Amino acid sequence: MTGRKIRKVKDKRNEDALPAEPEAYFESLFPQDPELERIAETIRERGMPEISVEPAYGRLLTMLAASIGAAAALEIGALGGYSGVCLARGLAPGGKLTSLELKPEYAELAQANLAAAGFGDRVEMLVGSAAESLKKLAAEGRTFDFFFIDADKENYPLYLEWAIRLARPGALIAADNTLLRGRTLNPDKTGPAVRAVREFNRIIARDERLIGTHLPSFDGLALATVKRA
Ligand code: SAH
Ligand code: DHB
Ligand code: MG
Repeated sequence: MTGRKIRKVKDKRNEDALPAEPEAYFESLFPQDPELERIAETIRERGMPEISVEPAYGRLLTMLAASIGAAAALEIGALGGYSGVCLARGLAPGGKLTSLELKPEYAELAQANLAAAGFGDRVEMLVGSAAESLKKLAAEGRTFDFFFIDADKENYPLYLEWAIRLARPGALIAADNTLLRGRTLNPDKTGPAVRAVREFNRIIARDERLIGTHLPSFDGLALATVKRA
């Protein structure tokens, strides 16, 4: 191995500039991802909220789905399909993504973006309130091995309970925005979303059915695995 040349990765990024922030530094090491950047652009040009999952957490979703060989993933909150593509990329061959989205126009864009990324036949988009869709999935006896919770924050504890109920043994649960841009840690904030996310964060840390942890980078990400009985 000695003396072997390390091949230089060529892209548009300036490799000499060292970002000051750890998150920006690590981000700068990764090659660009035209597929995901195109999705972000479709969200921007429609004036939709630019709140897709952080690229680093998107890569984590892909990595985790791939490492457990996820066959059935459930996403709560599709927006424009950014995290959907990240999840779909990690699915086992023949694996499927079910995505729950309240707004028909968002669901339509997410479906189109997933199709453009080559996952059109691997995704099932359920439009409407996630609580309703979850009830239906449970009634049908559907189960999943990967969950990504990223919709209305007031319902995080409810979504976590559904995830545990629909989980195959050893399933993984990830949830975005556990810091609520600082509001989670701000004692002056006591609104419903903040209280729900604080409760959700405690459940991840303490529930006997879970092995959980919290990643504090970006806006916070919770991770848990559902213990095998
Ligand atoms: N996971 C996406 C971002 C989701 S943003 C990504 O990273 O690419 C949150 C999404 O949740 C929005 O699209 C919003 O319309 C949706 N949402 C909000 N309340 C909802 C509800 N009650 N049921 C289903 N989806 C909901
Ligand atoms: C915000 C960010 C998110 O990732 C999300 O799912 C919802 C809201 C925000 O920054 O407001
Ligand atoms: Mg989010």
